[in-house]
Amino acid sequence: MKPFESVFILGGTSTIARAICVKLAESGVKKFHLVSRDKNSNIQFVKKLRSLYRVEVTQEEHDLLSNCSLSEPFLPKVDFYDLYLLTSGYMGDSDLAKVSTLEALKINAINYSSLIPWLTEITNYQRIKLKGSLWVFTSVACDRGRPSNYHYGAAKAALSIFCEGLLLRCHDKPFSVRIIKAGYMDTPMAENAPKLLRVSPKKVAEDLMHNPNKRGIEYLPWWWNLIMFFVRILPDKYAAKL
Ligand SMILES: NC(=O)c1ccc[n+]([C@@H]2O[C@H](COP(=O)([O-])OP(=O)(O)OC[C@H]3O[C@@H](n4cnc5c(N)ncnc54)[C@H](OP(=O)(O)O)[C@@H]3O)[C@@H](O)[C@H]2O)c1
Repeated sequence: MKPFESVFILGGTSTIARAICVKLAESGVKKFHLVSRDKNSNIQFVKKLRSLYRVEVTQEEHDLLSNCSLSEPFLPKVDFYDLYLLTSGYMGDSDLAKVSTLEALKINAINYSSLIPWLTEITNYQRIKLKGSLWVFTSVACDRGRPSNYHYGAAKAALSIFCEGLLLRCHDKPFSVRIIKAGYMDTPMAENAPKLLRVSPKKVAEDLMHNPNKRGIEYLPWWWNLIMFFVRILPDKYAAKL
């Protein structure tokens, strides 16, 4: 049985979204809606999806930094899809963020606060009464504040807690929420991470497709659960070096 027919992706140009799209198309998805900052940068990929898999692909442009106004709250329009996937993210410059409020706020906005309007609309009261899934990429960085990336980690932690609230709100509903605490993947975002710890986006996409209707919080790959257990209990004098 096909897990999904239609998929909405926020962060449609991300490396991991592309790998997941391919797996989803292979599994029988017929329609994709890709939201990204610059749809021209996705032209080749969209062409490939259409020609290889004969799927319908629509695109929408949206810069997440444009929706953070409190005086005019952004109200996105989100149609009905079987799966909603959130893969946008911004590592930012963590050294700059230590001295620049602008960079610190940018990291927080892209990874957390700008997603709230989208998440609120996706999980509206009517939608969660029906079958559907939401997959959100957070990060292992959210498990402990570290000197080297606490802005990114804090924003991802806020996103994880927000989505855990959604997960529990939906626990007796047909709509499922899946929080993916990803470790390092071979993408531009992790180019400085140790090679040994990086896995391919394809592998992560395959892992996700093993149980597409899964709900809950998971580490991908699974062994990050173990690593983060030790990172969480590491005494401060060692954690201060991370
Ligand atoms: N790579 C890793 O090791 C790793 C580890 C843990 C978690 N994650 C998380 O996994 C997800 C996917 O990461 P990835 O490695 O595939 O990253 P990526 O290839 O760098 O993709 C990041 C995505 O975020 C989008 N984005 C950035 N700023 C934006 C803005 N202002 N408005 C709209 N979109 C914006 C980018 O759009 P543009 O194409 O327009 O820049 C791109 O689609 C992210 O949430 C990331 O935080 C990644």
